[in-house]
Parts: sequence; structure tokens; C-alpha cells
Amino acid sequence: MNVEEAIMRRRSIRHYADRRVGRALLERVMKAGIWAPTGSNRQPWVFIAVTEPDTLHQIGVVSPGMLWDAKALICVCSDQRKAGTFPMGPTLALFDCAMAAQNMMLVALELGLGSCVMRSTNMAALREILEIPDHLQPELSIMLGYSDDPLPPAPRRDEGVIHWERFGREEGTTDGTDFKRTKPAPSVG
Ligand SMILES: Cc1cc2nc3c(=O)[nH]c(=O)nc-3n(C[C@H](O)[C@H](O)[C@H](O)COP(=O)(O)O)c2cc1C
Repeated sequence: MNVEEAIMRRRSIRHYADRRVGRALLERVMKAGIWAPTGSNRQPWVFIAVTEPDTLHQIGVVSPGMLWDAKALICVCSDQRKAGTFPMGPTLALFDCAMAAQNMMLVALELGLGSCVMRSTNMAALREILEIPDHLQPELSIMLGYSDDPLPPAPRRDEGVIHWERFGREEGTTDGTDFKRTKPAPSVG
């Protein structure tokens, strides 16, 4: 599977088979996370892998967005100390965490694991359950597990968001001399 195929094939998996996810696979998934790009190469993150059924259950109780049968979860936290004190620091760290999460989900797919981002959770409760210190901010979690179900259908993707050279241009040429405006003209004001 090449990268493009993996990107197209990944789906959010919300039902998992009753099968443990081994530590070695989770390690590979998290290592994929640390290879994501980060603003100023700050690597402002911490990943916490959770596999204990009791802890997963506790997280499920405080997470309307979590499916009960996830067999593992990786909590992706931004590290506010590494993010730096400049105004954009926390925002960049959030971007960095999202990039790490996508890396992790793509490698999970390659390893035969289903995954789903989970953001709908009570962060204060999650912090308490996982004993996350104050300088770390839980940003999102990735549910993981094997799935025996066929892949869910792909939600429609809107290709109309792709513009060329300028906002509103649907087609362009490499030398920029020609374009066809087929999108609505941008409104001003
Ligand atoms: C930031 C973010 C938060 C999400 N939170 C949840 C969540 O709490 N629970 C859930 O089941 N799915 C969650 N999702 C998964 C999306 O619903 C899913 O990616 C979207 O419907 C597109 O489907 P696909 O991932 O199969 O392409 C989240 C995705 C993102 C990127």
C-alpha cells in the first residue's frame, strides 16, 4: 500500500473486534507520530498509550465520542513548555499534534489496525484518569483496534474546495496565463 492508497483507504473505525493490540504495534504507531513535522522542530508533544481495559472503560465513561470496545487508545497531548511562550506557540503545538495523529492513523492502517480520532471527551476528567501534569494539554485521542467489519463507506469529499493560483479559479495552467472561473466569484465586504 503506498501513501496515497493509505490516505484514501483510511476510515474512522468505531467497532472493534475482541482482540488485544500488542505493545510492539502501538510503539510503531507512536513512532510514526514523532516523525511528523513540527513548527520550529519543537516536537511539543507527549503520547500516552492506554491498553488496560479498566482505564479504557473509565475514559469511555467521560467520553461521549468514544466507542466502548476500543482496545487501545493513544492520548495525544501538547507540551506547553516545549510550545514556547510566544503567542503562536500553543496554536502551532495543536497543529503539530494533529499532524502526528494523522501519521499514527496511517501507520495503524498499514499494521492492520482500525482507528478513529476522539475529541469528544471531558478533558479535565481525562487529565485526572491519565494523571496528566499541568504543562501537558490533552488535545485528542486515537481509538485503536482490529476490526472484522467491512470498511464503512467513505463520506463524500468536496473537491470544490480546491482552487488554482487564486481563490475562485478551478483550472489553471502551469504558466499561469489561462484560467477558467467556474466557482462563484469571491464576494467582497
Ligand atoms: C478533530 C477531530 C475530532 C473527532 N472527534 C470524533 C469523536 O469524538 N468521535 C468519533 O466517533 N469520531 C470523531 N472524529 C472522526 C470524524 O467523525 C471522521 O473523521 C469524519 O466523519 C470523516 O470520516 P472518515 O474518518 O471515515 O473519513 C473526529 C475527527 C477529527 C479530525
